[in-house]
Amino acid sequence: MKPLTLILSLTLCILFIAAISEAKSIVTQPQPNQSFKLNQTKPQNVGSSCSYTVTIKTSCSSPSYTRDRISLSFGDAYGYQVYVPRLDDPRSGTFERCSTDTFEIYGPCTYQICYLYLYRSGYDGWLPEKVTVYGYNSKPVTFYYNTYIPNGIWYGFDYCRGYLPSKAAQ
Ligand SMILES: *[C@@H]1O[C@H](CO)[C@@H](O)[C@H](O)[C@H]1NC(C)=O
Ligand SMILES: *[C@@H]1O[C@H](CO)[C@@H](O)[C@H](O)[C@H]1NC(C)=O
Repeated sequence: MKPLTLILSLTLCILFIAAISEAKSIVTQPQPNQSFKLNQTKPQNVGSSCSYTVTIKTSCSSPSYTRDRISLSFGDAYGYQVYVPRLDDPRSGTFERCSTDTFEIYGPCTYQICYLYLYRSGYDGWLPEKVTVYGYNSKPVTFYYNTYIPNGIWYGFDYCRGYLPSKAAQ
């Protein structure tokens, strides 16, 4: 009886630790970023010479549409940042459930895009599935959300740490 209990608790313990480390290794989940700042240092979008195509797929579990204001910001590891104060569906002004919206965006030229944040303000709610950015100097990059965007906070992904050593090398 006793050894069995011991083995059982040990097994549970190991499983628990494994689960925790597994959870930590999942870096693909979007995160709220309270300290995210729009870069005002550079004249953003002024004399902007690069165009980007952004496609946003709204989940089929999202509200049927949203009237919320959606802002977008993405950029590279070097401080070049694209900011869109308001994304509007070119057809209806809303992000409809199960639909994919495409935006042509002009902004400063970036190197490889390694972060992307969405900001939502409003009462309807919104559940994007994924956001893909196609840029001239950047490989297409897709950010998988599959989660509701909280109200009033920049919410997204920052993988730029991995790009910083190459900056030091240059
Ligand atoms: C939040 O954004 C800032 C840039 O404004 C960045 O330096 C920081 O690493 C981000 N935090 C997280 C947790 O990704
Ligand atoms: C804004 O851009 C400047 C110039 O590239 C850069 O030095 C600075 O680190 C950037 N700030 C942020 C918060 O990204």
